[in-house]
Amino acid sequence: MKITVINGAEKKGVTYRMKELFLESLRDKAEITEFYLPRDCPSFCAGCTVCFMKDERECKDRAYTEKIEKSMLEADLLLFTSPVYVYHVTGAMKVMPDHFGYRWMPHRPAKEMFGKRAVIITQCLGGGDKSTAKDIKDSLNWWGISDVRILSFKLMSNIEWDRIPEKKRTEFTEKLHRAAENVLRTDFTKPAHTSIPTKIRFYVVRMMQTGLGKQNPNYKDFRYWKEMGWIDDKRPWKDV
Ligand SMILES: Cc1cc2nc3c(=O)[nH]c(=O)nc-3n(C[C@H](O)[C@H](O)[C@H](O)COP(=O)(O)O)c2cc1C
Repeated sequence: MKITVINGAEKKGVTYRMKELFLESLRDKAEITEFYLPRDCPSFCAGCTVCFMKDERECKDRAYTEKIEKSMLEADLLLFTSPVYVYHVTGAMKVMPDHFGYRWMPHRPAKEMFGKRAVIITQCLGGGDKSTAKDIKDSLNWWGISDVRILSFKLMSNIEWDRIPEKKRTEFTEKLHRAAENVLRTDFTKPAHTSIPTKIRFYVVRMMQTGLGKQNPNYKDFRYWKEMGWIDDKRPWKDV
């Protein structure tokens, strides 16, 4: 099993501890590749749209995004982590998915994503866990991933792990261990189930691409959809 971890911060704080607890029982059973943000994707998307209009390989940040994308495409499980910063993901965790806007379904989603599973770990002091998880989930869903599990935590006390009451730490640890056991029980030889919302997204975009292709058969995203066979009978969830 291959796991790719995208850490929304470099700090070894509470989020880091939670991620480590989740991975504890998976370490000797999985090949784990970790990226730490902003270190591994430090620059903002400049909005040049070269990825959308021309070629993602011409992105100024391709040296960073190529490594992340390759690892994500090869992984069986994607793990995203972020503490809540002002009700949302860390700035770094906003910057990284911005670079993969071209992988959103209305553009050129990777077929591999349709069979993947993902876990999101977020934690906050008291509020913003839902909006933070959604920040990440939006991208994962629009990349084509249906199977997204969210593990959200509210500290409601101190923001340093060692000062959080022991009862709460035990509760968090058990929840993370249970989630890891779930991963161990998963049959990764089979692709994840594709949900109805993912299929609806796909068919709405397919209709849009068909229209755009009629106006301009050379339109980049249409050509991609056509080459993938999705304008015809092929479906990404049957092809992973
Ligand atoms: C800039 C910043 C903004 C934060 N905003 C929120 C917030 O909106 N809601 C909340 O409950 N906690 C907030 N927190 C607390 C964090 O979510 C978190 O509990 C704490 O930073 C510990 O996480 P870490 O040790 O992984 O960094 C914020 C912390 C920082 C540094």
